Amino acid sequence: MGAGKSTLGPELAVRLGREYVSTDALVEEREGVPIASIFGERGEPAFRELEERAAADVLTRGQPAVIELGGGALGSAATRAALAESAFTLLLEVTPAEAWERVAGTERPLAKDPEAFRALHGERRSAYEAAADGRASDLDGAVLAAAGIVVEPGAADRLAGFVPGEGALELVVDAGVDPLHGDRARVALGERLRASHTVPAGEAAKIAAEAVRLWSALRLDRGGTLMALGGGSTTDLAGFTAATYLRGVGWAPVPTTLVGQVDAAIGGKTAIDLEEGKNLVGAFHWPDRVVIDPRLLETLPQAELENGLAEVVKTGLLAGERLWELPREEQVRRCAAFKAAVCLRDPLDRGERAQLNLGHTFAHALEAGSGYLLPHGKAVALGLLAALRLSGLEDEAGEVEEVLRPKPVVVDRDVAHAALARDKKVVDGRVRLVLLEAPGKPRVGVELDEVSLRTALDALIE
Ligand SMILES: NC(=O)c1ccc[n+]([C@@H]2O[C@H](COP(=O)([O-])OP(=O)(O)OC[C@H]3O[C@@H](n4cnc5c(N)ncnc54)[C@H](O)[C@@H]3O)[C@@H](O)[C@H]2O)c1
Ligand SMILES: [Zn+2]
Repeated sequence: MGAGKSTLGPELAVRLGREYVSTDALVEEREGVPIASIFGERGEPAFRELEERAAADVLTRGQPAVIELGGGALGSAATRAALAESAFTLLLEVTPAEAWERVAGTERPLAKDPEAFRALHGERRSAYEAAADGRASDLDGAVLAAAGIVVEPGAADRLAGFVPGEGALELVVDAGVDPLHGDRARVALGERLRASHTVPAGEAAKIAAEAVRLWSALRLDRGGTLMALGGGSTTDLAGFTAATYLRGVGWAPVPTTLVGQVDAAIGGKTAIDLEEGKNLVGAFHWPDRVVIDPRLLETLPQAELENGLAEVVKTGLLAGERLWELPREEQVRRCAAFKAAVCLRDPLDRGERAQLNLGHTFAHALEAGSGYLLPHGKAVALGLLAALRLSGLEDEAGEVEEVLRPKPVVVDRDVAHAALARDKKVVDGRVRLVLLEAPGKPRVGVELDEVSLRTALDALIE
């Protein structure tokens, strides 16, 4: 009571694209009278019975929803069991004083006197703790918890505490990251860690031969969890390996690049490359936990930070907020929460997740035209510029120029144009773009005529 459920709940439902149901409201609707009068006229036990029935109904419907339970609902063993069976239960963190502040003077039957209120809070606390699958104190925190993502400075030194389950762990580490952070991660994982596997640094790890090597080396059983310490290349390889080994074992990335923390380790897409192209073989495998420690970025080379900043700017444009201006830790948290929400709404990439491709159709064309020598961040910066210009958002295009300083690049024009026409997002031979109506308002599946596309791409090429 007073934790902020009825403010945060509906907002969370919108962010996750789910229906919002409050058991209190359901009881009132069914009985046709306010809860206070049910309490007053029929007594608390009668209300608890109605509440228990309402909770059972919404929890067993099998419909994704954000459900708000009343503060006393966990007094019911049936409700506790239904939650354990079919819900991700989020505990909103609030002190008794904050909660009292919110409920004092309201009509709530159990909020008449601060002493009794505090005692009730203390009484219920242990049931809340026992039922909680995650905790949060704000909207982003709720989204992150629901997605299984932890963002915490210093988390890399306390890894064992964040990995769910009790099974054995094996770790896949990027060869460039191992000397910097490998030992602390292994020490932090403690006794559950059975083996550590080093893979080539960066993109060179994302090949079938590395997956084969890991499949053969792994000794995990179905209850085990594969972890990865590295950037998007390492987490893509390890995630794909976890998705396929024994038809799927637990999966928990610890991203060490800005790209990894705001993008690659989030949302459950995993892949390896083929000679024929990037990310052509992969699987959807939602991580059991993503442990994001922004302090791991302290050793990241400037060029890699710039790759990540391009994705941060992309995310900010999609969110309609200047996320790139935030201090790094806050930036990472906000971007991770934004991507997590989009992916929770569209986990299998069948609809609105396409918005995350903002700027990427042009970026991929430039990368191809450069023989894949152009860094991804530079390509995305240029791609964002093109997308914003085609969206008619000149101010935002100017902002991207200021923040990311994209320079036209020397690439093979014909190869770039051919790649644009072949992009994964082409449907029936027509290129489909992500543009913005305004910051925060993406439009996916926009088809433009060939001349506009060609002109926009040409403007990025020197
Ligand atoms: N699955 C997805 O949804 C998704 C999304 C975006 C990108 N990706 C993939 O991610 C890959 C790119 O990943 P990336 O940009 O994270 O880079 P990366 O994993 O390729 O690593 C780049 C370099 O940074 C080094 N490095 C990593 N962390 C470091 C640290 N903390 N300190 C010092 N050096 C460090 C690595 O050794 C490597 O040399 C691409 O293959 C891309 O396809 C996947
Ligand atoms: Zn990208």
